[in-house]
Amino acid sequence: MTPSDVKATLSFSDGSPSIDLPLYSGSIGPDVIDIRKLYAQTGKFTYDPGFLSTASCQSAITYIDGDKGELLYRGSPIAQIAPPCDFLEVCHLLLKGELPNEKQKADFSSLVMHHTMVNEQMQFFLRGFRRDAHPMAVMTGLVGALSAFYHDSTDIHNAAHREIAAIRLIAKMPTLVSMAYKYGTGQPYIYPRNNLSYSANFMRMMFATPCEEYEPNDVLVRAIDRIFILHADHEQNASTSTVRLCGSSGTNPFAAIAAGVACLWGPAHGGANEAALNMLEEIQRNGGVEKIGDFIKQVKDKNSSVKLMGFGHRVYKNYDPRAKLMRETCHEVLEALGLHDDPLFKLAMSLEKIALEDDYFVSRKLYPNVDFYSGIVQRALGIPVSLFTAIFALARTVGWIAQLNEMIGDPEYKIGRPRQLFVGAARRDVTPVAQR
Ligand code: CMC
Repeated sequence: MTPSDVKATLSFSDGSPSIDLPLYSGSIGPDVIDIRKLYAQTGKFTYDPGFLSTASCQSAITYIDGDKGELLYRGSPIAQIAPPCDFLEVCHLLLKGELPNEKQKADFSSLVMHHTMVNEQMQFFLRGFRRDAHPMAVMTGLVGALSAFYHDSTDIHNAAHREIAAIRLIAKMPTLVSMAYKYGTGQPYIYPRNNLSYSANFMRMMFATPCEEYEPNDVLVRAIDRIFILHADHEQNASTSTVRLCGSSGTNPFAAIAAGVACLWGPAHGGANEAALNMLEEIQRNGGVEKIGDFIKQVKDKNSSVKLMGFGHRVYKNYDPRAKLMRETCHEVLEALGLHDDPLFKLAMSLEKIALEDDYFVSRKLYPNVDFYSGIVQRALGIPVSLFTAIFALARTVGWIAQLNEMIGDPEYKIGRPRQLFVGAARRDVTPVAQR
């Protein structure tokens, strides 16, 4: 943070003394006003539910310019990363700040791929769940349970523990997601195969069975790898902020990441691709393309709570750059699988066209986000809708852990403790039960 010569002056209309607040500049993006001493100096808090104007930390990992539709991982634009890098290169970039050279890439991949197995007890832990449990319910439990299995990496203040916990989490998430999937279908678990790439191994654990090998298909493996890359980090979104807040108490990394998984589950965040696909299926059931007009009318009706899922973003008010890349992948996968005439895909394309031209969406700067297309891609890959958010969690784990480790290393970090504007009853004496 670079202190600025400019100061912000806060004055009050009731004659209370005004105060100067320091300003800091980052390397790019808006300056911030430092209000840390505001309460001590004025006895007042700021009020910003939803953090619309509040920077909760300083970070050097991911930068988003919502107006320009720009996403940078450690300074590199996502469109320069998604082709040619693979997901593990992106993990290296996010965790360590630089893309790996060839040797670093081989070493890092080997390290991650030699931590893919989970403790065999995990299978018995999984058995406690109902077979029809939502995969995100299962994932929240499994990720939290890792802290019960890896006691040598639970001290968040120990750099070696943080490093090995990061590798373990990145390596084991595909194994856990595929186990959650297999458990739900009643198929046996498929153990990881470490000589495959990260993404090919995941596809194999998902789709092989003991009686039939899975032959990785390059287009499909590249598609899942791109989904992982595009979801790897997204600065201080709800789940990442949850991980930071949870980790700020000094809890272990597995518990903090489990909190991120729980937050991601919600339909306004990671659950959006599942919600988008459910929405498409519902429109399809109710008459398909013919009924898009009626559906859009409902979306625009102030009295209905219907939203066009997969559209809109808190930060991107121009275009989601991840959506552009996911849209490309969507076409590539449907082409490779001969699914271009798929009715649901056709419906999605009609909906996209209508919404992009409709004044309601245009005037509110509501564009398709990455989840609008990633749901269609995952469905084409054979991934069940209920697993979509778990795949997002798998991909975002590297971002969560990079952000968590960055926070722990920040000398300015404190336990997160927001304040409130209290609007409940002021002091009231307790009435004895007989008189209430
Ligand atoms: N469909 C219809 N109207 C919408 C939508 C939508 N998807 N999104 C926003 N609006 C309207 C909203 O009703 C409001 O209208 P008005 O000004 O008339 O009251 C206006 O647009 C501004 O909306 P907002 O609620 O202030 O926007 P926000 O920044 O708080 O919400 C959002 C962002 C992502 C929660 C919201 O756009 C949404 O719920 N979208 C659908 C869910 C979705 O696709 N989420 C995935 C986000 S991308 C994944 C990720 O990065 O986590």
